[in-house]
Amino acid sequence: MAYNNIIVEKRGKVGLITLNRPKALNALNSELIGELNEALAKFEKDDKTGCVVLTGSEKAFAAGADIKEMSSLTYIDAYKNDFITSWDYVSRFRKPIIAAVAGYALGGGCELAMMCDFILAADNARFGQPEITLGVMPGAGGTQRLTRFVGKSKAMEMCLTGRTMDAAEAERSGLASRVVPLDELLEEALKVAEKIADYSLPIAMMTKESVNRAYETTLAEGVRFERRVFHSMFASEDQKEGMAAFVEKRAPQFRNK
Ligand code: CAA
Repeated sequence: MAYNNIIVEKRGKVGLITLNRPKALNALNSELIGELNEALAKFEKDDKTGCVVLTGSEKAFAAGADIKEMSSLTYIDAYKNDFITSWDYVSRFRKPIIAAVAGYALGGGCELAMMCDFILAADNARFGQPEITLGVMPGAGGTQRLTRFVGKSKAMEMCLTGRTMDAAEAERSGLASRVVPLDELLEEALKVAEKIADYSLPIAMMTKESVNRAYETTLAEGVRFERRVFHSMFASEDQKEGMAAFVEKRAPQFRNK
């Protein structure tokens, strides 16, 4: 299906979504978010998709929420329509999703990248929460997720000053998992995604769910959750296959992928 603001492709078992509003540096308007959610829902249902890569252009992953669309919003409109809650679907997407970030990831763009499972950054990436310069603050999880990623001091400085972080600082502080040269970003993201998609999908989904628990609960509760999910994996044919393949010194052939 054709979309106005995103390009959706399938590369083997990997779903690739490219944000595509070049004239507005991929500013996130409601139409784009609706399209993104629809594409993700399709990938979630598709048994032949094992991982998704979300990316933008070389200049901008996304320069934030669409300021022009947002500027005349009233409090009542924002409240009644629960503005920005629909963006959260990315964080509830159950399959692995990688943000491949080049250029600007500002405001809602940085928040969208942080909703993905991890961020691969190009060496020209710039992350920031400049909302304070517009008389607001981050509204799509930035004050919460950035703080969990990089700690209070750095998150506070970025949210209070609007300062941006380059790719090296993002990697150093744990916001990006790795930095790669710009011209290798997509290839590398697709390679990593293919690797994930080649494992057992339910096991990858449970692993994701378990890592995400670390953000939402205490250590003791998280470890208990992990143990329960770990035990359940022994009911899967892919656990039997993965371990048999190791013992027989051959590559595993996971069934559920
Ligand atoms: N919303 C709407 N349009 C945007 C946009 C945004 N967030 N960011 C860029 N654009 C538009 C510009 O208005 C411009 O359009 P026109 O050609 O029609 O004027 C076009 O994209 C190109 O932008 P610039 O000319 O500004 O490009 P630049 O290279 O000189 O600067 C930039 C790039 C530093 C990213 C600059 O565009 C910028 O500062 N953008 C805004 C960043 C920002 O404040 N983001 C936070 C938004 S608020 C938010 O996200 C709230 C939240 O928490 C959800």
